[in-house]
Amino acid sequence: MLNLKEFEELKTECLSCTSCSLSETRQNVVFGRGNPLAKILIIGEGPGQIEDDRGLAFVGRSGKLLDELFLSVGINVEKDCYISNIVKCRPPSNRKPRIIEVENCSNWLQNQVSLINPKIIILAGSTAVNSYLNISKPITEIRGKWINKSNIKIMPIFHPAYLLRNPSNEINKPKWTTIQDLKKVKKELNLFV
Ligand code: URA
Ligand code: SF4
Repeated sequence: MLNLKEFEELKTECLSCTSCSLSETRQNVVFGRGNPLAKILIIGEGPGQIEDDRGLAFVGRSGKLLDELFLSVGINVEKDCYISNIVKCRPPSNRKPRIIEVENCSNWLQNQVSLINPKIIILAGSTAVNSYLNISKPITEIRGKWINKSNIKIMPIFHPAYLLRNPSNEINKPKWTTIQDLKKVKKELNLFV
């Protein structure tokens, strides 16, 4: 069972992190949002502008779409998930985080994973997949298939920003495919409740 006090302490510590140069340009450290007691941890790439302004993960257009897609399969992100990112500070102009930034930030994520102890991790987009799993496979190849790692079931999915650029709801298009992936997640989640 998660120790909420420890989780809050980790957050407080993280909010003053200056371990990499992203600390120089950020407005806010984005630790995460949602329910740290949840069974699902969602991991994205890094905060965008709205996230940086508000200090909350996935609260811009990508986040809204993610919330909608999860809700469409019966998962409430705020209640059933905790959601965070590979890097906790916004890379300038939303560039991809650099390897050195990912490495410097990985302790925060590892501690989040240890404390939350999720049953399921969802990796949204290739940066999350490649950084978290230390592989370099195209997302099209790896999404939708469960990966088992230290007793956690990991599901890679498309990043919602990609789905915003490919908004078609037609069968076999990325949005439809993502919903099929999330249905697998919902089925797995049902085994734990
Ligand atoms: N994209 C991400 O990867 N993370 C966010 O928090 C917002 C947009
Ligand atoms: Fe620290 Fe991560 Fe922010 Fe870099 S991105 S300053 S390592 S919290």
